[in-house]
Amino acid sequence: MSKRLVAPSILSADFNRLGQDIEMINNSEADYIHCDVMDGVFVPNISFGIPIIQHVYKIASKPLDVHLMIVNPDQYVETFKEAGASILTVHYEACTHLHRTISKIKSTGMKASVCLNPHTPVHSLEDIIGDLDMVLLMSVNPGFGGQKFIENTYDKVRKVRQLIDAKNPQCLIEIDGGVNYDTGKKLIEAGADVLVAGSFVFGSSSPTETISKLKLV
Ligand code: DX5
Ligand code: ZN
Repeated sequence: MSKRLVAPSILSADFNRLGQDIEMINNSEADYIHCDVMDGVFVPNISFGIPIIQHVYKIASKPLDVHLMIVNPDQYVETFKEAGASILTVHYEACTHLHRTISKIKSTGMKASVCLNPHTPVHSLEDIIGDLDMVLLMSVNPGFGGQKFIENTYDKVRKVRQLIDAKNPQCLIEIDGGVNYDTGKKLIEAGADVLVAGSFVFGSSSPTETISKLKLV
């Protein structure tokens, strides 16, 4: 049974009025605040880093779901904990010693999550799934908001669902990229729990209403 959670991505927020956009999320039915950290090395874009997370945390009333699109994430685990992250996602493709990184995240008290790029097979998670609180599937190539959804993601969700049901039923499945009412509905049907949405929420005329409707797709 899907948990039907929604995590607006502030990558698409208006940074001239970030405080107001966080207030909007606080007062909405959103479950998490999704924060995309990009280093310009792991992905071909640079977004924001620790100071922004610290500021968001000061005024946020929802848990910060921090998605690290950076090389060597291991090096920054404690820093993101101190900055206010509740869930920390690292990329499978960026971790040489993934088990060690996951253990480190959990030792700080944060929830640990692993993200797969669109080309990374689900079976890569087989020997780590039992240690995870969440799996994040990229449904676009990471780096930018507003990209087209990759259809193969539905199959991947079903495969992760099977793996989770067999090995770690508590683990959540989150999807990131190109989420709207249509893709969101199909993702929930395939077994996803958490929908990340950036441009679809912040580009809508009523972001609060869009968040509520995404919870009902
Ligand atoms: C992309 C980021 C996403 C991004 C999604 O690399 O990880 O979180 O904000 O944006 P939309 O919802 O516009 O595809
Ligand atoms: Zn993200």
